[in-house]
Amino acid sequence: MPLTSSVVLRPLRSGEFAEARPPDSEFDDFGPRGGYPAPPPCRLDDDGALAVVVDGQPVGTVSWTWVQWGPTRASRCPMIGIWVQAGSRGSGAGTEAQRLLVDLFFRHTATNRVQAHTDVANLAEQRALQRAGFTDEGVVRGAHWRDGAWHDGHLYSVLRTDRRP
Ligand SMILES: CC(C)(COP(=O)(O)OP(=O)(O)OC[C@H]1O[C@@H](n2cnc3c(N)ncnc32)[C@H](O)[C@@H]1OP(=O)(O)O)[C@@H](O)C(=O)NCCC(=O)NCCS
Repeated sequence: MPLTSSVVLRPLRSGEFAEARPPDSEFDDFGPRGGYPAPPPCRLDDDGALAVVVDGQPVGTVSWTWVQWGPTRASRCPMIGIWVQAGSRGSGAGTEAQRLLVDLFFRHTATNRVQAHTDVANLAEQRALQRAGFTDEGVVRGAHWRDGAWHDGHLYSVLRTDRRP
């Protein structure tokens, strides 16, 4: 899918996505969640979030949580997530935003790995991750509770040494 718009990531500004919103996708249906009454942290070395901005308009958010595979903090990596508002999907923003976030981590932190997890049925996110340079590492069984049931998901990652688009 050709990208015809400019996509940038920047800190959320006061008031952006401040209100709680109902889930606008079956894959985003984790029950009631608040918005961002104050801009969230955006330091890459801690958990945080950034706005996804297309042609100057905020259309969604990327976020990340650090997880640890080994016994020391040296083996930490960010697990990223994304939400693009319903009317702005399908134009390449989700792919480009995740590619930009990966670049930020590799340029400004020492992490060797960025990972993401998505429902086995979330084909749009799987496609966006693949196009952003992620590799499918397999299925994680019964990993997340959503809409009254446990769901399997694909674990994706991109390593510092992977060739990226
Ligand atoms: C997943 C999400 C971030 C993708 O963002 P987006 O801006 O729509 O993504 P893009 O336009 O960059 O790419 C979407 C790709 O998925 C494909 N796609 C979209 N819907 C699809 C579907 N139902 N089945 C298969 N592929 C689909 C598109 O064709 C496109 O692939 P292509 O470039 O090969 O044509 C967005 O749909 C979203 O926010 N969904 C709700 C929240 C969510 O699921 N977040 C991820 C949770 S892990």
